[in-house]
Amino acid sequence: MEAINNEEAKAYFSRELLIWYRRIKRDLPWRMNQDPYRVWVSEIMLQQTRVDTVIPYYERFMTKFPTVRTLAEAPEPEVLKCWEGLGYYSRARNLQAGAREVVERYGGVVPDDKTAVSGLKGVGPYTTGAIMSIAFNRPEPAVDGNVMRVLSRYFCLEDDIAKPATRVNIEKLAGSLIPEGAAGDFNQALMELGALVCTPKSPSCLPCPVMEHCAARLAGREAELPIKTKAKPPRPEKRAAVIVAGTGVHEGKILIRQRPETGLLAQMWELPHLLIPKEQESVMEAADELSSANAAAAGKWLTRSMEAETGLLIRPRRWLMDADHVFSHIHWKMRIYLADLGTHAELADAPSASLAAESAAAYEAEAEGKQGEYRWIGPADMETLAFPNLFIRILRDYWT
Ligand code: ADE
Repeated sequence: MEAINNEEAKAYFSRELLIWYRRIKRDLPWRMNQDPYRVWVSEIMLQQTRVDTVIPYYERFMTKFPTVRTLAEAPEPEVLKCWEGLGYYSRARNLQAGAREVVERYGGVVPDDKTAVSGLKGVGPYTTGAIMSIAFNRPEPAVDGNVMRVLSRYFCLEDDIAKPATRVNIEKLAGSLIPEGAAGDFNQALMELGALVCTPKSPSCLPCPVMEHCAARLAGREAELPIKTKAKPPRPEKRAAVIVAGTGVHEGKILIRQRPETGLLAQMWELPHLLIPKEQESVMEAADELSSANAAAAGKWLTRSMEAETGLLIRPRRWLMDADHVFSHIHWKMRIYLADLGTHAELADAPSASLAAESAAAYEAEAEGKQGEYRWIGPADMETLAFPNLFIRILRDYWT
């Protein structure tokens, strides 16, 4: 094979990749047309989430919120519910905030303007490039991890792709590769190559349309590239959660609460749970059987801590299961206990009866949802309230 210079390698890459994409591109629902709103929603969903996972969510979302305006005007809990299970829920809130900005500032039309698009909530450099190129065919690069991998290999670049400076350089390179008039297809071709051929592990070089001049491949280094320094592993957190089974009018229901307005899993619903401090971990490890004598301490600790956490007299009865959830920075390792609520009579027996009566009234009020935080729900309520995956798994298990 003839050696070629860098300019020739670039021209070859752009030309061959585009031809290949136009031949093999997948028929994905966001490729139906170039409606900028549809492109925007798809690109937000596709961040950190695989195409196969996104497709059904995308279709449901577009049916429910077909235009910027319908999304802008929707009640936030409905948007969150539609995102349930996709993770990274701030994406949904930011997307809706962005849709509201488009309605207020641009009359409901996503502007064909890079600065305006990049100013929308939740839209970073990658999404700006994707919207500008795919929806408006503007020659803007759209560089995510997949694109950095593809270009690192083809040009045998050894810079650490975890570094912001590397991304900036690769963006310049990617911009210089866009063929005249074909920005949208070319950027999607790069994504497609990264997804289908130039995969993170064991890239399938033989069917690759640009293998012939891939510098990493020619050097036998395709498996080593890209260079990426590892992020810190998520910090493990042991937590204890309770399924509080209702009695009387709440028979068949369980107690849930809504998370705060901001932060991790903001505004989603969950089982009451709390962090098990390091010094308590070994006690809780042994607490599969809360009724056994050696686990009594664990039960007591949990009752006290739950009261401090929730203001409710929650009495754990037995361990039910363990469940895990890994976020980007935290790893929840959760023990789930079956529990019930203490009765008024028990509270009245407590040392300070008047205080007990007061707190009994307070917790009834809270448990009734009067403070907007706690609520009794049955299985049917799972259809309307948004829960993180972890709790969906637990509650499905509990109710079946
Ligand atoms: N990943 C990110 N954006 C994509 C797109 N438009 N098509 C396929 N995969 C993608």
